[in-house]
Amino acid sequence: MDLTLLIHPALAISVVLLVATAYLLKTRRRLYFVAHYVAGILAFALVMTAFPLALYFVADAGGISLFPPALIVHTANFVLAISAIVVQGGLGMGMLLFGRRRGWYSTHRRIAKYVLAIFIAQGTLGLAVLYGIIPYVFGQ
Ligand code: HEM
Ligand code: HEM
Repeated sequence: MDLTLLIHPALAISVVLLVATAYLLKTRRRLYFVAHYVAGILAFALVMTAFPLALYFVADAGGISLFPPALIVHTANFVLAISAIVVQGGLGMGMLLFGRRRGWYSTHRRIAKYVLAIFIAQGTLGLAVLYGIIPYVFGQ
């Protein structure tokens, strides 16, 4: 195991923070517009970079069985996380491109808290995996 295993966590921590930022920019008393789009679109783009890299690094390091068991749950929840950002980002970018359709807006608004929860869970599971592999990353 080597330092390349830190690339995914670094990108993915940024994703979790960006999703939380996008959420807070639309749920506090003052609503932000452009800042929300930037945070959301960056989160979307970074997930699309972070997850295939992680799949590659795990395969390259010898497979999922060599990692802490938390990686199994992290991988399972990844399916939820990717679906969540595709739907949420799709609705958001759809509204920017095609106008604020009422159904899109209310779905985007209604599912936002679940999207945030899924990403916080994914980040917490990721930290658990990271904690488990730190000795190997730096050890050899
Ligand atoms: C590609 C990413 C995203 C884009 C392009 C986007 C875009 C939008 C747009 C166009 C609106 C309608 C209101 C407005 O005109 O500003 C909106 C509202 C909202 N977005 Fe996003 N969004 C994105 C990601 C997210 C994410 C990741 C979350 C949270 C997890 C989120 C939470 C919300 C909430 C709660 C509202 C409702 C705000 C209100 O009460 O008016 N969005 N977003
Ligand atoms: C943004 C949400 C995230 C997604 C979509 C995601 C997705 C993935 C995927 C698909 C894998 C490969 C699993 C496999 O091959 O079976 C993985 C591995 C891993 N993830 Fe995440 N993850 C996210 C967030 C995080 C966070 C926040 C951390 C750490 C703080 C993290 C730490 C790890 C670690 C340590 C691995 C093992 C491989 C490596 O280090 O590159 N993940 N993740």
